[in-house]
Amino acid sequence: MMTKTDYTKPWTSAERYRPYADYSADYVTALTTAVDTSAYKNTYHIQPKTGLLNDPNGFSFFNGKYHLFYQVFPYGPVHGLKSWALMTSPDLIHWTDEGLKLFPDTIFDLHGAYSGSALPLSEKELFLFYTGNTRGENNSRDAYQNGAIYTQTGDIHKFDAPLLRTPEGYTDHFRDPMIFDAHGHKFAIIGAQTCEEKGTVVLAQATNDSLTAWDYKGQLQFAQEEMGYMIECPNLVFIDKKPVLLFCPQGLDKSIADYDNVFPNMYVIADDFDVESATLTQAGKLHNLDDGFEVYATQAFNAPDGRVLASSWLGLPDLDVPSQADGWQGMLSLVKELTLKNGQLYQYPVVETISLRHEKQNITLSEVATTIDSNSYELEIELRQDEENELYLFANDDNSSHVSLKIDVKNGKIELNRANLPVSWSENYGVTRSTQFTPGKAKLNIFADTSSLEIFVNDGEKVMSSRIFTVPENTYLFAKNSLPATIWQLKK
Ligand code: FRU
Repeated sequence: MMTKTDYTKPWTSAERYRPYADYSADYVTALTTAVDTSAYKNTYHIQPKTGLLNDPNGFSFFNGKYHLFYQVFPYGPVHGLKSWALMTSPDLIHWTDEGLKLFPDTIFDLHGAYSGSALPLSEKELFLFYTGNTRGENNSRDAYQNGAIYTQTGDIHKFDAPLLRTPEGYTDHFRDPMIFDAHGHKFAIIGAQTCEEKGTVVLAQATNDSLTAWDYKGQLQFAQEEMGYMIECPNLVFIDKKPVLLFCPQGLDKSIADYDNVFPNMYVIADDFDVESATLTQAGKLHNLDDGFEVYATQAFNAPDGRVLASSWLGLPDLDVPSQADGWQGMLSLVKELTLKNGQLYQYPVVETISLRHEKQNITLSEVATTIDSNSYELEIELRQDEENELYLFANDDNSSHVSLKIDVKNGKIELNRANLPVSWSENYGVTRSTQFTPGKAKLNIFADTSSLEIFVNDGEKVMSSRIFTVPENTYLFAKNSLPATIWQLKK
């Protein structure tokens, strides 16, 4: 009899870095079956075919289609030997899985094709900028910032030598180059740790049009305070010409900016990007990008149609997730458009997301159970300006198991609580998250998928993104006090 593989067992370093070719066809078939039959599989989100997904990479528009790559270890639900997988889409909704594209197969990326970004060079060539992770003796690390061309016909041509090597003054925690256009030049920012173990962002500039030659421009100035011990996945986008820096500081002192997750995904809005002094001028306060339980490594880019588009990993580093038992973990958020309103950052699913809606129903939620077919829906509610109510999602028929949302419109506060679920996990960082929004107005658009929940408050003023693990039959909805709502089932 075939024994079932326990994907949750501890994985040794040798297992994590085993060459892909060493996995047998039987192993892959069993893993694929485990993932395909997982009760946690989402229906309208991007998730890995098998194994672990983490950061979105190379988000771009090229050859008439959106390209969204992501970090993947395809052979198990753990951080192992990473490649870039690719999804393409004409409309940010219908995605085609193009498979693995960028493999760890040269001496400059042997232990992982780590995160990075993309920028079209022409209609035929998409430039990819990524970190090559290599490990030496005693697990020492060397990071290289590498370039590659992804062609119109779907081939990868890696450049022979790294485009940037780690400069003096930094440890080998130096990664995640994000390329962007500004003032008629091409720049890249890289997440870094100084030799004094401080987190920072390093700026580089391309010195030729083919993007094969780069110079360092120093550290990007955007905050007075210390940014923890490391910054991962920095991104710079321009919204209404204002630079907005998204980044993930690790070890940030909570007196500088408060957060609940192990590492936050933060942003600052500045007035201008001064190249000469490598400064984001008049940079504002640090804010959490998202007030939910699991969100990290958000990647954004200025799309050719003028929008700023973003995708996040609904996950966190070093986190065990229940779906690991089924051979997978990690998923991407919906694609969000970033805008500025009255100087505040708003994030909302791209307008194309509406095309997922079908079977609209107007309902009234109450203490009596509302039954729905599946946890793949969009729920829209608008509360009265002084209303206090409680909403229960992913509930069982007597509401003893659920995710709850306590909404206090007068004080502009929402508390999300996932203590009452049949599957408990990740409780060491607490079971509640809260957010503050403009008091007196609360319109919520709630996107539930089988094991995820994305809550958008007041058209994107605040966002709470989380993973939710329950049993398939827990698809009931309740509210403490009668609450009119609109619900759409969402297409797969
Ligand atoms: C962030 C991160 C990046 C790195 C990648 C490796 O989640 O640690 O800094 O490039 O994941 O998968």
